[in-house]
Amino acid sequence: MTTINAAQTLSTDLAAKAKRHLWGHFARHGTDIAPPIITRGEGVTIFDDRGKSYIDGLSGLFVVQVGHGREELAAAAARQAEQLSFFPLWSYATPPAIELAERIANYAPGDLNRVFFTTGGGEAVESAWKLAKQFFKLTGKPGKHKVISRSIAYHGTPQGALAITGIPAFKAPFEPLTPGGFRAPNTNFYRAPDAYAHDQEAFGRYCADRIAEAIEFEGPDTVAAVFLEPVQNAGGCFPPPPGYFQRVREICDQYDVLLVSDEVICAYGRIGSMFACDDFGYIPDIITSAKGLTSGYSPIGAMIASDRLFEPFNDGKTMFAHGYTFGGHPVSSAVALANLDIFEREGINTHVKANAPIFRATLEKLYDLPIVGDVRGEGFFYGIELVKDKATRETFNGEESEHLLRGFLTPALWEAGLYCRADDRGDPVIQLAPPLISGQKEFDEIYSILHSVLDEAGRRL
Ligand SMILES: Cc1ncc(COP(=O)(O)O)c(C=O)c1O
Repeated sequence: MTTINAAQTLSTDLAAKAKRHLWGHFARHGTDIAPPIITRGEGVTIFDDRGKSYIDGLSGLFVVQVGHGREELAAAAARQAEQLSFFPLWSYATPPAIELAERIANYAPGDLNRVFFTTGGGEAVESAWKLAKQFFKLTGKPGKHKVISRSIAYHGTPQGALAITGIPAFKAPFEPLTPGGFRAPNTNFYRAPDAYAHDQEAFGRYCADRIAEAIEFEGPDTVAAVFLEPVQNAGGCFPPPPGYFQRVREICDQYDVLLVSDEVICAYGRIGSMFACDDFGYIPDIITSAKGLTSGYSPIGAMIASDRLFEPFNDGKTMFAHGYTFGGHPVSSAVALANLDIFEREGINTHVKANAPIFRATLEKLYDLPIVGDVRGEGFFYGIELVKDKATRETFNGEESEHLLRGFLTPALWEAGLYCRADDRGDPVIQLAPPLISGQKEFDEIYSILHSVLDEAGRRL
């Protein structure tokens, strides 16, 4: 007779309930599919309902910057909930939202002094597009409404944000989307056209100039904004080539088009500064952010706009007719303040800057594997592109990629104790973004699991 212990009973019970009632996000469902159930986190480690531990190689979803299990953040939430659990920012304000707005504005570059809170990243992107449209209506350029973004970039799922997203497969089921979204090339240097394959700066110039071209094609009087991530996530971490953002800034100024830095992933230390535009030396008109602001202990997002963009709304009667019940939730705002306190006290950004070269060097040791084509990224944010043939950079077809990523890599990495992401929204990549408290020990563990699993994947080809 088999003995069933308490953990197994709980686990079976939860799995059955999940199977019957829980609808996963971006998840497949079916007879043989059961989501792993995560019950606890501690530092850089997560535990499942069977008590097995895993390295959190993705900070949840680019979120848990200061690591799991911080009592201080839970206490900040509890304190605020006891004091004032909820009040909206709809013509009212709360102390934590005010303090957080000031703190974010102080971290933000240039005159980005005005903070509009949301509950997450997609809402921040949506808010930025709506602000851009209304700003130009109020300032005598009512035709400006279109946006340019980059191919394969992910900017969220609300219908407006989805129109900015550059992944056709995510958009097709929901067509027709909000009109006005147009694409320019991304900065994938590994797959640069031959003419630019040996010159990053020329490649950056080429990519930036395609944005100018798109604005010209569409008509400068119709284009409101360009949405770019500092380091593009989807496709596998495309850093900006040197000079790229400086050229994009020039183009935006030339055509009076707003530059939106979508830092939903890259802000709050992921690249090494509070805002990644500082890491790459440009000042946008708007920053969109979310994820890491509370390290995930409570949801919040923030759209940060320049004084110039706020000015037309500062006349006593004009309104940005836009908002979210839970935007700038007092509990989340209090948690964000406590999270930023940890950043300051523990020198999280300094730690990322000091350790980023070590993370890179550790991951680059994977180049000895034939399947590893490119290791790219910045800060604590990396993509490893997998290829069929290293010499020719030949990639996998759809069926091969499906087999490699979902059939082998995802379960094998999980089984080996590493949570990360095997992704094929562009060419197949492994994505890594560990908590910002990670160091050589965690990098080595990540490397060693990746090396053995990717080695095995290569052998199976
Ligand atoms: C760059 C970027 N923008 C927007 C979003 C959407 O954020 P959310 O899932 O919080 O709506 C994401 C999510 O990963 C993102 O990476």
